[in-house]
Amino acid sequence: KKVTAFAPATVANVSCGFDILGFAIDELGDKVSIMSNDSGRLEVKSISGDGGKLPMEADKNTCSVAIQAMLSHLGSDQGFDIVLEKGLPLGSGMGSSAASAAAALVAANELLGAPYSKEELVPFAMEAEKIACGAGHADNVAPSLMGGFVLIRDYYPLDLVKLPVPAGLHCTLLHPHLELKTSDSRSVLRKEISLKDSTVQSGNIAGLISGLFLGDFQLISRSLRDVIAEPSRALLIPGFYELREEIRSIGALGSGISGSGPTIFVLAPDKEIAIMAGKAAEDVFEKIGLEVDVYISEVN
Ligand code: HSE
Repeated sequence: KKVTAFAPATVANVSCGFDILGFAIDELGDKVSIMSNDSGRLEVKSISGDGGKLPMEADKNTCSVAIQAMLSHLGSDQGFDIVLEKGLPLGSGMGSSAASAAAALVAANELLGAPYSKEELVPFAMEAEKIACGAGHADNVAPSLMGGFVLIRDYYPLDLVKLPVPAGLHCTLLHPHLELKTSDSRSVLRKEISLKDSTVQSGNIAGLISGLFLGDFQLISRSLRDVIAEPSRALLIPGFYELREEIRSIGALGSGISGSGPTIFVLAPDKEIAIMAGKAAEDVFEKIGLEVDVYISEVN
């Protein structure tokens, strides 16, 4: 029997929620097919769409690492053949490694008779993130598995909260053709923050979450600010601040770095403004000689 599962791209951090907030994108994502085998081993049989860059070794590939974490928890020595079809670009900040791990887990879980809920699969996918990014953060894997906006209230123990999404909320993803490794864009982060920055960041994350609950787009817009990661990381993304000005002027709610970049996300109150954000980005990046891919998605 073969099971195929899809898992979507995700926007992690969402400006002020460094490592604790993320949301899922429709349609764009990775597909993984799993078949039981008799070898008792996890074997990555083929990977497409990665330009030959991803490792096939079972202890390095995010699909097999995630499945291994699940099997160890179950106490099972079942073997699986794994086929990965990448729909997401690598090193893009769209949760590419997370989507592979999430899709692999959903497929393997189904093949095993669904012993786990989607939420219970999150810790196994975090093991894969450790291998891929050097840190077991959950802000891509949790929304990729659970959909919508997910808050990681705490890591020890893991406490996940699925948040409401106001009707009409759209996201435009702008992917300039640059590759940034999460491990590299984590290494530029300051290790300590000031009391003042901590206060500003707390106000914004509380405002953003309140805005989602209240369906208050203006509150969401005022809260899309990051004084922790963005000041260091924006320097790695040409055109970042120029684009922000354009984005605000067309009535979008705001923009920020998607995960660890270089993709920029824009939140918009409707589809029309989301489309305009894509056009604005094409103009800004054309001026600096960078190609950009634009994806538009409703958030729900
Ligand atoms: N929260 C993580 C980071 C997401 O910002 O490094 C990586 O996609």
